[in-house]
Amino acid sequence: MTPAEAKDKITALRAEVSHHDELYYRRALPEITDFDYDQLKRELADLEAQFPQFASAASPTQRVGDDRVQGFQEVAHRQKMLSLDNTYNETELRAFHARLVKLLETDDLRYTVEPKIDGLAVSLTYEDGQLVRAVTRGKGDRGDDITANALTIATLPRQLSGAAPRLVEIRGEIYLTQAEFDRINAERAAASEELYANPRNLAAGTIKQLDSAEVARRKLAIVLYSLGACEPEVVRSQTDLQKKLRAWGLPVVEKYWTVRGIDEAWVAIGELDKLRRTFAYGTDGAVVKLDDVAQQRIAGATDKSPRWAIAYKYKPDTARTRLKSITIQVGKTGILSPVAELDPVFLSLSTISRATLHNEDEIRRKDIRVGDLVEIERAGEVIPAVLRSFPDERPRGAKEFDLFAAVDGKCPVCGGKIARVEVDTESGIGAAWKCQNYDCRAQRAGRLGFFCSRRALAIDGLGETVAAKLVELDLVRDPPEVYDVSLETLATLNLGTAEEPRIFGEKNAAKIVAAREAARTLPLEKWLYALSVPDVGESTARELGKRHRNFAELADSPLLHTVLKKAELIERRELEAPASRKNPAKTDEEKARRKELCAELDAEIAALDAGPLAGVPSEIGPAVAASALEFFASPPGRRLLAKLRALGIDPWGTVVEVGAFTGKTFVLTGTLPTLKREEAEQKILAAGGKVSGSVSKKTSFVLAGAEAGSKLDKARELGVRVIDEAEFLRLLR
Ligand code: IVH
Repeated sequence: MTPAEAKDKITALRAEVSHHDELYYRRALPEITDFDYDQLKRELADLEAQFPQFASAASPTQRVGDDRVQGFQEVAHRQKMLSLDNTYNETELRAFHARLVKLLETDDLRYTVEPKIDGLAVSLTYEDGQLVRAVTRGKGDRGDDITANALTIATLPRQLSGAAPRLVEIRGEIYLTQAEFDRINAERAAASEELYANPRNLAAGTIKQLDSAEVARRKLAIVLYSLGACEPEVVRSQTDLQKKLRAWGLPVVEKYWTVRGIDEAWVAIGELDKLRRTFAYGTDGAVVKLDDVAQQRIAGATDKSPRWAIAYKYKPDTARTRLKSITIQVGKTGILSPVAELDPVFLSLSTISRATLHNEDEIRRKDIRVGDLVEIERAGEVIPAVLRSFPDERPRGAKEFDLFAAVDGKCPVCGGKIARVEVDTESGIGAAWKCQNYDCRAQRAGRLGFFCSRRALAIDGLGETVAAKLVELDLVRDPPEVYDVSLETLATLNLGTAEEPRIFGEKNAAKIVAAREAARTLPLEKWLYALSVPDVGESTARELGKRHRNFAELADSPLLHTVLKKAELIERRELEAPASRKNPAKTDEEKARRKELCAELDAEIAALDAGPLAGVPSEIGPAVAASALEFFASPPGRRLLAKLRALGIDPWGTVVEVGAFTGKTFVLTGTLPTLKREEAEQKILAAGGKVSGSVSKKTSFVLAGAEAGSKLDKARELGVRVIDEAEFLRLLR
């Protein structure tokens, strides 16, 4: 990889990891498995190590995930709350030990091995034994005060038993037991509500609720395992601390090991792996800590994690079973996805009979055939995946899977045409079959379910089952039509069968009605995301929402047209380059002429970058621009916009800087003929511009009036454009 390629890749990975950090820490709604996340982060860390010239303190590899949300008081931790580095195999674990041996100049090291609890980090402050505060990790140095919510945890003592230090920060993890998680999800399933993904996310989401009464309805639990500030100091080792925590009456880990040397630590890690599924909390690893506090101090810490402790992550659970058949699901975008129908098998606390096969290419690549014995994996999240097959044990005559043949060349739901399209897959760009009928029932139901999901408009109560029913009964075609379904109709929906009816009910229906009303005032970015515009994901929607006032402006967005224009210019520039491979210049004359043309094109592109496209992020690229403009001009797009208008729903963008002067910096000097200085400043700010006191190369314009002073000279010296009031007003228009 060249440094330039590495730089691009690092930038892209940083954005991706930050996006997943936001989803995980702040919103408790991760999109990818912890395992996939760890791999992304590791790829980034490896590249940063390989290309240290691109290191940055702002990289997500260098900071602790930030869990702060609005509505809570922020509190500083007395001692920073750090994170832990991860290892995934024995070699990496031994490397950790080797580093410490070198650093401490002895190979006689004692460690503790403890379960790594998969919950939400919290710091409790006790003063003279009395609980005074509970704070989330936040961004390490300060977090959210969640004391009221933490007090709903039945097993959390308000008062420490026995002798307590004057002040102590005790750190641990808030979690939900599997049983409580199952109870809550069963309740939600009965009400046809979207299910929570896993106990960790639900615990994190719960503790961040502002209403403590709501929090109390879910039985959160806690376990403590480390210290922050402690005055006076009372422990000399991690083993001491474990004993102290017990003596203080705090909930602690079921089991920990104190061992000598890394060989013994490795054995303990294996023992823990056998036991960990019996614990009340979820564990995805072991934490190995240097036992001696004095040694811990010598080892010290980086900004992000201690050098004296490390997390060892266990491999996700897998199981073997038989692949009975492959069925085809149609998602909200119309993509036909293969699903494995399995002989039921027990894996990670539940019975599994279906798993994702990702796509047809993946099935081919892994050589998976119906009838095969397959290995399935569950990496912490809800949807298990088929990892591989065992061709040696294949039943005779098992044929390669052919998706097109399996669906008879048409959409299995609506019978419509299917076409081959490019899709992003885990292993790069791949191909998939897609139902071409926007009005396909499966697509409609998928879009409606998505529209109401927590990520989108959070119309709680309207999950996949209800969405499918509303579409099946032709009550909703496009998602916004959900506003037309009356309370009575919702209340009397039968989600069961004629023989075994399951009526949705008044209470659940009322919940939907309240939630859909609340959604009316959500910002443009949410609505845009909720409407499933092709190629517009969450972060793209956010960026578009910041740059458009409303749907009317977005539908024929000047910004998006400019993005397309720039793409055209770039394409032309490539073609006109004298040394273009596709179209090389033949004569010297032609070369010279094309060189000149390229210079003009370059200038035009640079003007767009410095002008209307200044500060526009990579999310808003030509593919997105083309998709969005095309969609809003298409019959389904126009139908959606008309429906929103009819419903009186006109979400506003959180426009921060769209205007004639977006990205422009002004310096004012002298007296203007009609405008007062404040008025001119107001106009600049309102149009998205900035006002600065001194002229530099970065200044876009100097607005000069009578008796302008040295700023005018400076502008001339630097070649900054100088304008008068008339020109200013013209530009503003
Ligand atoms: S000790 C200075 N011990 O895992 C390091 N952390 O992924 C203090 N965690 O930030 C952490 N179980 O929130 C420690 N037995 C355990 C843990 C544990 C879970 C959390 C903790 C940490 C995160 C790192």
